[in-house]
Amino acid sequence: MCGIIGVVSKKKSENVMPIVYECLCNLEYRGYDSFGFATVNPHLHVLKNVGAVSKFINQDNFPLKGSLGFAHTRWATHGGVTKANAHPHTDCTNTIGVVHNGIISNHHELRKELIKKGHVFRSETDTEIVAHLIEEELKTTSDFELAAVSAVRKLVGSFALVIGSSNFPDVLLAFRKESPLIIGIGKDKFFAASDVISFLKYTKKMIPLDDYEYAILSRDGYMIKDWRTMNPVNKRPKTVNWDFEMAKKGDYDSFMEKEIFEQPLAFRESFYIDKPTLKKVVQTLLSAKRIYVTASGTSYHAGLVFQYLLKELANISVIPVISSEFQNLAIVDEETAVVFISQSGETADTLTALRYVKRKGGKTIGIVNVVGSSIARECEATLYINAGPEIAVCATKSYLNQLSVLYQISFELAKHRGILGINEIEALEDQLKQLPELIKLTLGSINRKVSEIAKDIQYLSKSFYIGRGIGVPTAKEGSLKLREITYDFSMSFDGAGELKHGSISLVDSDMFVVAIVQNDETYDDMIGNIQECKSRNGKVITITSNPTSELIEKSDYVIEVPEANPLLSPVLYILPLQLLAVYVTKLRGLNPDRPRALAKSVTVK
Ligand code: G6P
Repeated sequence: MCGIIGVVSKKKSENVMPIVYECLCNLEYRGYDSFGFATVNPHLHVLKNVGAVSKFINQDNFPLKGSLGFAHTRWATHGGVTKANAHPHTDCTNTIGVVHNGIISNHHELRKELIKKGHVFRSETDTEIVAHLIEEELKTTSDFELAAVSAVRKLVGSFALVIGSSNFPDVLLAFRKESPLIIGIGKDKFFAASDVISFLKYTKKMIPLDDYEYAILSRDGYMIKDWRTMNPVNKRPKTVNWDFEMAKKGDYDSFMEKEIFEQPLAFRESFYIDKPTLKKVVQTLLSAKRIYVTASGTSYHAGLVFQYLLKELANISVIPVISSEFQNLAIVDEETAVVFISQSGETADTLTALRYVKRKGGKTIGIVNVVGSSIARECEATLYINAGPEIAVCATKSYLNQLSVLYQISFELAKHRGILGINEIEALEDQLKQLPELIKLTLGSINRKVSEIAKDIQYLSKSFYIGRGIGVPTAKEGSLKLREITYDFSMSFDGAGELKHGSISLVDSDMFVVAIVQNDETYDDMIGNIQECKSRNGKVITITSNPTSELIEKSDYVIEVPEANPLLSPVLYILPLQLLAVYVTKLRGLNPDRPRALAKSVTVK
């Protein structure tokens, strides 16, 4: 989940290092245990340290200068968080530098062989072997590209690599296998980065590399090749329709707040889905004998909502499975369709599940935010959710946009299945179109109240989030938001009914309980659950569109959200829970954008 960036300017006189720094800062959401830079001028200069880069270095007085540079921000996997383990890693001669995202699984064997040949290692990382392998290859060839390709062919595992050398000062090489790597084509610069946001300020033209591809970025131009054959690959650049401004924090204290409050706007964009692809998705689902939905984290919670929707609207059964368990649980054949939901389109667990389904001959449908990402490209049909760049580690606007796309699929399926009358479906479609306004209204009306509640409950570090029916995914998502950024113990269940089968024994005056009370047939049972928690002295925060006197009396706090069809309610009910997580985090003096040990895009299993 590290972030890597390489920049080559066509002009030898240009100093790109402040740009490399800027691009790296845009990748910090991928990890910020340590950072490092390298440039060639004329020797290989490396600068690295532990901590987040933006805390250490000032862009204006950037200490390195060069017209080509590469850098890394680390989320530690192999080796502790030390300066020695920070990238770039170099060979024995200090002429070759490497930055890497991924895991090289045969690094132990390779390291042993290299040590036997006299190489001296300075870090505990898997990455350092790449620099030494290239050094070794250069003993038999003077061709940098060939040496790097030969080295890369020896690697097992997943990697995105950017490699530079002071003996070849006009070129950067960038290799990909199973970890994201995007080439940016600027007017006078080329980029290789873990994602497009990194260099968006400089260019919107990009080429996502596929597995087994590498890019040669030089002053004269760029070339993409296959590292199994070294044959050129003809790939046309794509243009991303994201703006750099969208990836800025503006007046907000954190990206997470910015992204929560831009949900009314972002949600509207989800309506512009590609209609022919939607049709294809619907046909695939209609003809499947078995349907799974798989994802991780927040995206999985969107999948849980999908399960309820298809049952209610189309009488279709969908089996949700978290991606990391997919192969252990799912039975896949040619008549199986699987929906993969992912904001980043790069989550290793979800990508692994996708490749498994393809091997088994199943049909694959992607619901993805990042254009050109691996999941988006590898699925037979992909619908983009159009949430724009999401920077905060905690997913917020992407969740709402995922829901919107899942609603649109469900409504189409409902029309084909004839379970609901066309009028009912059209009424739901109209309500969906009104949600951007309702999201705006809700955020405005609850904001103050939620921040006051946050002040009251900030000292309670245990919580349960409970819901029933379509409120279950909301409870799970709300609890995840709180856990992710406050580090408090928070738990949710597969249904509030489970509370009495053990967990209720944990409820006491040190705990708050968030109850999702829908205005539907689950209402009475939820009142029962609230009562049970109250009688054990838990503080109850109720989220509801129907604040009856009974609910007001039994709850410590009631947050009212606007009434909507219960099937659409997950979009509105999650809003106070996103805000609650942010406000508690801020009261504790923590940064909601920088949750410890978490990364936005988890590209390792
Ligand atoms: C990580 C992030 C979560 C995210 C999950 C799935 O755990 O911290 O916020 O929900 O990955 O990511 P995806 O990009 O596949 O939606």
